[in-house]
Amino acid sequence: SKRELILAFESSCDETSVAVIEDGTKILSNIIATQINSHKRFGGVVPEVASRHHVEYVTRCTEDAMKAANVTYDDLTAVAVTYGPGLVGSLLIGVTAAKTIAYAHHLPLIPVNHMAGHIYAARYVKPLEYPLLALLVSGGHTELVYMKAAGEFEIIGDTRDDAAGEAYDKIGRVLGIPYPAGKEVDRLAHLGHDTFNFPRAMIHEDNDDFSFSGLKSAFINTVHHADQIGEKLSREDLAASFQAAVIDVLVTKTIRVAKRLGIKQLVVAGGVAANQGLRERLAQVVKDEHLDLDVVFPPLRLCGDNGAMVGAAAHIELQKKHFAGLDLNADPSLEF
Ligand code: KG4
Ligand code: ZN
Repeated sequence: SKRELILAFESSCDETSVAVIEDGTKILSNIIATQINSHKRFGGVVPEVASRHHVEYVTRCTEDAMKAANVTYDDLTAVAVTYGPGLVGSLLIGVTAAKTIAYAHHLPLIPVNHMAGHIYAARYVKPLEYPLLALLVSGGHTELVYMKAAGEFEIIGDTRDDAAGEAYDKIGRVLGIPYPAGKEVDRLAHLGHDTFNFPRAMIHEDNDDFSFSGLKSAFINTVHHADQIGEKLSREDLAASFQAAVIDVLVTKTIRVAKRLGIKQLVVAGGVAANQGLRERLAQVVKDEHLDLDVVFPPLRLCGDNGAMVGAAAHIELQKKHFAGLDLNADPSLEF
């Protein structure tokens, strides 16, 4: 049968990305234009600046994605786009680009939830087996999601305050690390030791939620107090202690839910899924406890925002013919 080719757009935050995906599992191209350097000096993503960059990059990314995939618009089966959650001005650029191409080339338009995209990025590793549990850890989200079947999402646990990635970025700032700090904190953590014993919020509480603002405050107070008394703390040990606390909570609570629900496959996705400490620790726990749990991480380059993950999600929607009209709008606070 004919191969299904999807042109997929992602522009929810600070990466403009366009990909061409074959049959939901093969990446023909995945062009990613990042704006991180433009946001670094502000210590975070500035929405106005982000929107303007998306406008600048989206046409070029589309041309590059089509060219790299060696396909024409006539070859395409559908056009897909992230329509939320994210920054409204940023989302609108991808949505408008996708609509334009869908209209001009008479192609169906597939709306994609950004967080579903993060989960489905794991399809590039292996077929997903349901029911599964997803630990979604990004700059804006920290959620445990139960999927009874493809396309069915049930939030089991959520953060009550900061997202895991957000906590990384905020404590990174205190260490003088530019935004986004996660990767550098992860690197420093591997050079230090957990000597500060920061709080592990709600780790043994009878709920499946997370909280990282107490940890963040404890970290900041420790650094400020040391500054005041002129004491020099090890950045490596600070990073290692912070990371140990985050990982302890994420792993303990996730494994507990996986056991309770009798889950066989755990997908860890979102920007923080790139964390080496988290990857190592989860593998270790599964081994030590002889768990019958297949832990799947998307490849590192697919953990951050990208068009390929949108294409993988869109392919699931394509099978169900879940299409949108040309009146599709961005939904900045879209939920599952
Ligand atoms: O999924 P993502 O690219 O964008 C959102 O949808 O939010 O996630 C970005 C987040 C940032 O907070 C960044 O610091 C974090 O992922 N991150 C990491 C690592 N790499 C990126 N956090 C911890 N360890 C990493 N290696
Ligand atoms: Zn994301």
